[in-house]
Amino acid sequence: QVHPVSFAHSKQGLHEDLTGIYEEIRSLLRTDIYKLDQMCHYYFDGKGKAIRPLIVFWTSRACNYHNVGRSFVSNEQKKVALISEMIHIGSLIHDDVVDTSDIRRGKSSVNSMCGDRNAVMAGNFVVSNASCLLSTIDDTEVTSIISHIIGDLVRGELMQQDNQGHFEHYLKKTYKKTASLIANCCKAAAHLSNSDAPVIEAMYQFGKNIGIAFQLVDDMLDFVSTAENLGKPSAADLKLGLATAPVLFACEKFPELHSMILRRFQKPGDVEFALNAVHNSDCLNETRILAKQYCDYAVNHLNKIMPSVERESLADLTQHILHRTR
Ligand code: FPP
Ligand code: MG
Ligand code: MG
Repeated sequence: QVHPVSFAHSKQGLHEDLTGIYEEIRSLLRTDIYKLDQMCHYYFDGKGKAIRPLIVFWTSRACNYHNVGRSFVSNEQKKVALISEMIHIGSLIHDDVVDTSDIRRGKSSVNSMCGDRNAVMAGNFVVSNASCLLSTIDDTEVTSIISHIIGDLVRGELMQQDNQGHFEHYLKKTYKKTASLIANCCKAAAHLSNSDAPVIEAMYQFGKNIGIAFQLVDDMLDFVSTAENLGKPSAADLKLGLATAPVLFACEKFPELHSMILRRFQKPGDVEFALNAVHNSDCLNETRILAKQYCDYAVNHLNKIMPSVERESLADLTQHILHRTR
């Protein structure tokens, strides 16, 4: 079952880093081509969860504290936070074209309002502006780390369309589609705090594991939540032909699901069979238990750096991600 938890941080001021970031992103995206301007500003309305920038800010503070005993975010680290949200939103604008999705964040998707061609251009423009911002960090290592993300998003999306029906493929896909962005932004933030190699690796692993947990919960919510609550279509994955973790667990009990996964639930009755299999077994709970395992791995990596308020907040965030309802 999904338990709503409040994310009321006991520590004051920890969300202040997020103040003004959407205004900054909007000013970076400003263009005199009116239609493009409207499309690419659309989701930077301050109503998103901003989980990725938050993780980058706290990782930056935790690493700076670890290295010099002072919690701060450098200008370059802040740029990584902005870039994380820009690449994320750019990929969502593309994703709604690929998934033929009409709603996102409770409003009409860009493609549903402006058409697929324009939406693809808008997504490209957002990612392009993220690259311009990346170039101003002027650090070849960070450029290399962040550049990998965009290729991973494309690889992950293509792997997803070629579901093999087993966990090894699913987890590799999940890393590329979701976790690479968080992992590599954490890595870049750690690098920018002049951390040594083991700390950079620990923060990369933290991001990778929290990212996989995040997607596992997302895949579970697709089965249990409503479109109204999610602000995007629910029960969508099966209809798109996608077999996510709950279905892979169900497949262990209902082996006949395997051929349905390979034919992407195309035959009449496939989607209904899979839905029944998921809801009449322990698969959603198993998915949550797997997500919890990834949260635990994430915290183990986090514990390799010095304790700090921000390190603790990142650990709390793993619990928030595990119990989130939207
Ligand atoms: C959401 O997944 C989508 C992603 C995490 C990334 C998808 C990546 C692409 C479409 C390639 C982007 C290419 C570039 C150049 C940026 P979802 O569909 O499972 O989630 P949803 O329920 O939020 O739609
Ligand atoms: Mg989608
Ligand atoms: Mg998708």
